[in-house]
Amino acid sequence: MSNQADAVSSRRYPPTSEFASQATGQASLYEEAKADRLSFWADQANQLEWHKPFTKTLDWSNAPFAQWFTDGELNVAYNCLDRHVLAGNGDRIALLFEGEPGDTDTYTYRVLTTAVKKAANVMTDLGISAGDRVAIYLPMIPEAIISMLAVARIGAIHSVIFGGFSAEALHTRINDAKASLVITADGGYRKGKASALKPAVDDALAGGHCPSVENVLVVKRTGEAIGWNAHDIWWHDAMAAASDEHTAEAFPAEQPLFILYTSGTTGTPKGILHTSGGYLTQAAYTHRNVFDLKPETDVYWCTADVGWITGHSYVAYGPLANGATQVLYEGTPDAPHAGRWWEVIEKYGVTILYTAPTAIRSFMKTGREIPDQFNLSSLRVLGSVGEPINPEAWVWYRDVIGGGKCPIVDTWWQTETGAIMISPLPGVTSLKPGSAQIPLPGITMAVLDDDAKPVQDGAAGYLTITEPWPSMLRGIWGNPDRYIEAYWSRFEGIYFAGDGAKLDEDGDLWVLGRVDDVMNVSGHRLSTAEIESALVGHPWVAEAAVVGASDELTGQAVVAFVILRHSHVAEAEAGDVNKVLRDHVSKEIGAIARPRQVMVVSELPKTRSGKIMRRLLRDVAENREIGDVTTLADSSVMNLISSKLASGAKD
Ligand code: PRX
Repeated sequence: MSNQADAVSSRRYPPTSEFASQATGQASLYEEAKADRLSFWADQANQLEWHKPFTKTLDWSNAPFAQWFTDGELNVAYNCLDRHVLAGNGDRIALLFEGEPGDTDTYTYRVLTTAVKKAANVMTDLGISAGDRVAIYLPMIPEAIISMLAVARIGAIHSVIFGGFSAEALHTRINDAKASLVITADGGYRKGKASALKPAVDDALAGGHCPSVENVLVVKRTGEAIGWNAHDIWWHDAMAAASDEHTAEAFPAEQPLFILYTSGTTGTPKGILHTSGGYLTQAAYTHRNVFDLKPETDVYWCTADVGWITGHSYVAYGPLANGATQVLYEGTPDAPHAGRWWEVIEKYGVTILYTAPTAIRSFMKTGREIPDQFNLSSLRVLGSVGEPINPEAWVWYRDVIGGGKCPIVDTWWQTETGAIMISPLPGVTSLKPGSAQIPLPGITMAVLDDDAKPVQDGAAGYLTITEPWPSMLRGIWGNPDRYIEAYWSRFEGIYFAGDGAKLDEDGDLWVLGRVDDVMNVSGHRLSTAEIESALVGHPWVAEAAVVGASDELTGQAVVAFVILRHSHVAEAEAGDVNKVLRDHVSKEIGAIARPRQVMVVSELPKTRSGKIMRRLLRDVAENREIGDVTTLADSSVMNLISSKLASGAKD
C-alpha cells in the first residue's frame, strides 16, 4: 500500500450523534447476541410471520447439515407480500421500475401481491408443485421478482440464471437441477438496444438436451421476432387467464427455496442450496440493520442483477420482507449517458445505495464532474459488496457520492453465506476505509493459521466461520459429499470461506481476497478451472492455465496461457488466436468470463506432482519479476515463457 493509501486507511469516521440516536441497529444487538446467540436468532426469526411457530432454534446434530427453526412453518412470499398488505401497507410502493428512459412502472405491495398470486396459479396450472425446480432467465424487470416470489409461494425451488450466461451455461444448470419449467423473455434492453434472450433458451433446449423441461413461459419485453416451440407459452396470456385468488400454504422452515449456481475451484459450477426460514430471517435482519432501513421513508436501490446472490437477498427477499420501497433498474450505468445512475437517484430520491467497488472505480475514472451535475442529497447510507473496496475508492464514494455525510457499509459475504456476515453497523461502528470490520451480531468468525490457531493481530490467515448461521447454505444440489469436501474439510467442524484475511490491532477484519483458484472479476466469481475447461474444449488448445491478474478497474482480470496442439499451430497462427479463444470462452460461459488476454506458450510451469504453479503465471500476467521457481519440475520453463513473450508473441 502506498503512503498516501496508508494515510487514507488510517482515518476513522464515527457516526454522527444524530445518526446514532436514530439508528435501526443499535449497539445492544451485539450484547444480546453475545449473551445468548440462539435466542438472539430466535428473536430475529420471530420478526417474520410464522404460520406455525418454531420451538427449536437450531439442530446441528447432523453437522455440517444445519436445520434452523426446524419445526416452524411459514410461507416466504406471504412474508414478503400479503403480510404488508394485511398490515395496512398495501398502497406502499414496493418496486419503482426504471427501464430505458421513459419506460417506467410502479408496483405497490397490493399490486405486486396480486401479480404473484396470479403467477403462482399459472405455475400450479402448469403442473408445478412444491419441490419442483423452475429456471428463471430474465432481464432486470418486475417479472423476475414476480417469478421468484411465485415459485416461493407454491413451495417450489427457483434457479435464477444470470441473463449474461450463454446457452451452454444455461443448459448445464437446467440439467443439473432438472428444472421442469423455464421462465424467460424475448429479450431485454441494453444500452438502448434490444438484446435477445429466448434464442439462448431455444439453443439450450434444442434436440431434447434438457429432457426435464416441459414448458417455457415467455415474457414479451422487446417485441422482437423470436422462434416459437410447442412448449412455449406467452406469460401475458397465461397471466390474463389466471385467477388472482391464491392462499399461501405454509411450508416447513427447511423447505428448499432456491438453488444458485456459483463457481468453485473445480470445473462444474456448484448449485448452492438455500432454504426458507433461516434464509429469510437473516436476509431481513441484515437488510434492516446494516442499511439502517426506515421502511416508511427510505427509497432503497441495490444495483445487483437478480442473477447473483446479492440480487436474491438484497433485491428480492430482504427488502420485500422488510416492506421497503426500492428501485429496480434494467439498464447499464453508462447508457444513454454517463450520469444515468445519478439521474435515477435524483429522480426517485434514493436514500440507500448498495453497489460494487468496480462500479465506483469506473465512476472515479470518469471523474466527479458527472455525479456533480445531479442532486444526490437524498442519499444517507452507502453500501459496498463483492470485493475489497480500496480505501481511495471508499473515500471518493463517501465524499463525491455521499456528500461527505453518508456512512459506508462494506459488506462481506458469499453466495454460500446467503446474507451479509461482516459489516459495520452504520449508527454504531467507527468506520475504517477499506475494512469490512467485524462480524455482525449473531455471527462468529475467526482468522486461522494452517494449524487452525487464531492468527496474531496483523498476520494473515484463513477467514473462517466458527458456528452455524441461519442463512448458511444447506448443501450443494445433488452432491452432499462435495459440500463437505468444499467447505468443511480444511478445518474440522469449521466453515472455510475461501478467502484470506487479516486482523488489525483493533480486531477489525481486512479481507485479502481468495486464496483458492476462484477469481473475482468486477465482483463476479469465476473459476479458473471452468475457463480452462472451456479453453481446452477448443480444437486448437492442448493445455490451458488461467489466472486472475490484478486490474485497476475490474479488481481482477482473466489472463489465459495456452499451449496449442501441434496439429493446429499453423491454423491458429494464421488466425487471430487471441480473439478466437477469447470469443470461444465468451460463447461457452458468457461475456463476463472473456479473458482480457490469451498468451500462447510452449510450456506451463508445473510442480513435480504436475500441479500448475499459477503464482508464477500471475507474476508474468502482472508484469512482475518472476518469484521462486525452485519447486518447479523444470525450472527453465519460466525462462522459456518469458523469452517467448518478450519476443513479441504475446497473443
Ligand atoms: O472473495 C470474497 C468476495 O466475493 C466472494 C463471494 O462471491 P459471491 O459468492 O459471488 O458473492 C458476492 C456477493 C456477496 C467472497 O468469497 N467478497 C464479497 N464481498 C466482499 C468480498 N471481498 C472483500 N470485501 C467484501 N465486502
